[in-house]
Order: sequence, then structure tokens, then C-alpha cells
Amino acid sequence: MTLELNDMQGLLVRGFGNLQGAQYLLLRFTEAERSRKYIKELLPLLTNALQKPDDHAVQLAFTYEGLSFLALPDETLQSFSREFKEGMTEPHRQFVLGDTGENTPENWVWGSKASGEIHLLLMIYSHNAETLAQKLVQEEARAEAYGLDLLHSLPTGMLHDHKEHFGFRDDISRPIIQELNKKPTSEKEMTFPAGEFIMGYKNLYDEFAPSPVIPPEFDKSDDLPDLTNDSAFKDFGKNGTYLVFRQMEQDVFAFWEYLLGQSKSKEEAIRLASKMVGRWPDGSPLTKTPDKNDPDLSTFNDFAFWEEDKWGLKCPIGAHIRRTNPRDHLVTEKTQKDSAEMASKHRMLRKGRPYGEPVCGDLEPSQLMELPRDHKERGLHFICLVTDIRRQFEFIQNNWVNFHKFGGLEYDADPLIGNHYKNGNIKTDEFSIPEYPIRRKLCDLPNFTLMKGGGYFFFPGISAVRFLANYD
Ligand code: HEM
Repeated sequence: MTLELNDMQGLLVRGFGNLQGAQYLLLRFTEAERSRKYIKELLPLLTNALQKPDDHAVQLAFTYEGLSFLALPDETLQSFSREFKEGMTEPHRQFVLGDTGENTPENWVWGSKASGEIHLLLMIYSHNAETLAQKLVQEEARAEAYGLDLLHSLPTGMLHDHKEHFGFRDDISRPIIQELNKKPTSEKEMTFPAGEFIMGYKNLYDEFAPSPVIPPEFDKSDDLPDLTNDSAFKDFGKNGTYLVFRQMEQDVFAFWEYLLGQSKSKEEAIRLASKMVGRWPDGSPLTKTPDKNDPDLSTFNDFAFWEEDKWGLKCPIGAHIRRTNPRDHLVTEKTQKDSAEMASKHRMLRKGRPYGEPVCGDLEPSQLMELPRDHKERGLHFICLVTDIRRQFEFIQNNWVNFHKFGGLEYDADPLIGNHYKNGNIKTDEFSIPEYPIRRKLCDLPNFTLMKGGGYFFFPGISAVRFLANYD
């Protein structure tokens, strides 16, 4: 099935890496009629997936509360997934996601009930600071003119050499969408049907990804396509998807201080940190080059674990990249093939960007370890796009990132981003490093990240935005 790129927002197929500066605005509608006029004005400004902007890009997403505020038909609101309707901070979900203790939504700056109901996420990307500042002035004025409240404005940007704040290259491993006709760069890399990430297309189960619907009588301007296989409804989700947003503060000083405290040298601290990530700071994967980094492999993704590193002697079983994508070695599965198939059902299109000033410009770990604490906030605006929040993002976060028995481990959560705590017989603050003849265990890991905000959004196709603009 051909992808309707002109009807998709661009973030689905690119990361706007050439547009280095960006700002995310979190807004609230105050009046439905004016809100629709606002959406109508934004419509021509949205960047679609056919465009390759070199100046700026604008993207738009809605919360469930935002769509409810626009008074969509009940049938439509009900047709969204349960996770999206209940939201990220629903009490049971806090437990599922590990948003407990100091990570509780009660402490978040945005996204909790107490911090104000968010309706809309407006993402503005730009190739330089000047254009970004201009666009921000324009968009803030436009929002104000239509009565929207600007609740939060989150600047975000890219760091040296695609790194995140701890000093590691990020954004290397990305699922490839079959219908985009890109060839995998290696034989081990899988390709994915578009329906894993875009509504209106078939997913890995050979089914159309579940999509929210509109009863046809409400689509007076005939903006939406029929739902595939069921013409009793219009497809409101086609060419859209869900967007998961988590603002995670990173304590770079605590991270390197802890690792130095466990090491006899800076080199050893870097080796331990790389064991936690599963890649060296330059991005080269431990599974391929376990003893030292190899700059030629800094974007290398052609590896799996079953044959190359069954016991985690190169890349520990509990390393961040091995938990979040166990590839062909899920310890619970019987065969390599079963495992690869099972793991493939839990992938995400990651689109996040760091925020805040880096501790130092080149993010070299040996520098990061030496510099004194500066008390500035920095972290990652983690964003991912998925058609099934529960099967994809929540499964990874719950069963792989935070599960202390993942892969036969006992007391470990993800060393980099897991919620580390002790609670009676349960503790999650260890990190096991398989080594021969005796494994090494790091204990009393503090939390290196802290949740500051988050939410589930609907990232609509262009026709769905047009429908919202015309809907009354
Ligand atoms: C502050 C928070 C985070 C930091 C610093 C971080 C850092 C990294 C780094 C350095 C990599 C290696 C680069 C790559 O393989 O592309 C990576 C990979 C990855 N991360 Fe994170 N990450 C964070 C949060 C998350 C969260 C919340 C999730 C999902 C629940 C996640 C899922 C992944 C996935 C799926 C990969 C690719 C694994 C692979 O396919 O090999 N990350 N992350």
C-alpha cells in the first residue's frame, strides 16, 4: 500500500535534523469556536511528509482533553485507545510506567492534573535561532488572538555529534518502514509495515492499526477517507498516530560521580558507563567492539545478541539498548527466531531531542567527570510515535526498562533511565555486568533521570486537522 505522504505530518518520516533549534508549546483552548478557527489558520502552515523544509517546520498534536474540548462526537472520543483516553498519569498507569516515588506526576512541572489541563502540542523547528525566535513570536501571538492559554514553552535543541547529555551518541537505531522503500543497511535489520507507526496501514499482525472513527454524518465537508473495510465510518486516524512525550531531567554529575566512585580510573568509569548504555560514547556497539570504541562503527546497527553475545559478556543483558530492544535474544523465548519476532512487536519511532545547556560543548566523558556541578536543568524530551501505546511504549517501559527480573536478572532496572529503589524485599538499584570467571555487580545506583512532565497525544494526519477546522 502506498503511503499518502502529502497527508502525513513530516515527523513521521524525518527528524528535521537539519532544523537544529526547536520549541514545543503546550497550549489550552478556552473557547471551542475560536479554537477551530485557530486550527484552520494553522492548517496551511503544517509541514507534510513530502516536504523537505530547510528553513522551518510546524507540527501539531492533541491530547484527549483537547479533542473532548472541541466536542467531537462521543463515538469518536470512545474510539481512541484506552491508554490515550485515560492519559499517562492515571493512577494504575503511574505504577505500570514506574512513575512513582520522586518520579510521581505530583512532582511534574506539566502533564499532571494539578499542573493544568493541556489540549495542544505545537512543535516548531527551525534552522537557526533567529528564525525560531520570529516563529515563536508569531505563534504565541496567533494563539493569544484565538484565546488559547500558553501553559508551557519548552526549548529543545540538538547537541554536539548527535549526543545526549550523559555524553553518548543517540538516535542510531531506528526501525525502517517497508513502504518507504528504504533498504535495510544490513541483513540483521528488520523492516516494519507502516501500520506499526502510522494509522490506516497494516501492522505486523497483518491487520489495520486501530484507528479512531467519525460517523459520516459529522464529516459534512467530506474531509476524511472511509475506514478501510468498514464504510459505516470515516477514518479519523488515517495518516496519523499517537505521540508519547516524556520530559526526563538528567543528572549528569550524579551519573559520572557514581561511575568514578566505582572505578580506579577515568577509563574504567567510561567502560562501566558504556556497559550501562550498550554502546561506547561515540556510538560503537559493545557487542561488536567490546574492548574499546571503534570510530568506524559509530552508527553501526548490524548486530544481534543470540550468537554474538549470548551471556552478555560484551553487552550486559541489562544494558539500556539491550533492554529497550533485545533483538534476537529475549531470554524467555525458545529460539532466536521467536525472540526476534517477539521483540519486533515492541518498537517505536524515537523523535526526541535534548534540552538545556550541555555541561560542556563536546560532551567528552573525561571532561564531564571533571567539571563541578552547575545546578542547571538539562535532559531529554523523549518523544516516540507508535500506533499502539500499550503494546509498544508501555510494554517496553514496564516489562523491559523497569522490570527487576528482566532477562533472568534479580534486582536490576534499566541502569540509565530505570526507577532505582529499595522497598522491602524488592530492590531495583543494582546493575549486573557478566564477566568471566565472576560477574561484577554495581549496587546502590541512584536515579540518574527524573520525570518532569509527560503526556499522550494524538498526532493527526493533515485531513484530520482539516476536519477539526471545519467541524461544528
Ligand atoms: C534521559 C533518557 C534517555 C537517555 C539518555 C537515552 C539514551 C540512549 C542512548 C545513548 C541510546 C543509544 C543510541 C541508539 O542505539 O540509537 C539509546 C537507545 C535507545 N533508547 Fe534510550 N535514552 C533515554 C530514554 C529512553 C526511553 C524512555 C526509552 C523507551 C522507553 C528509550 C528507548 C530506547 C531505544 C528503543 C533505543 C534503541 C535500542 C536499539 O534499537 O538498539 N530510551 N538511548
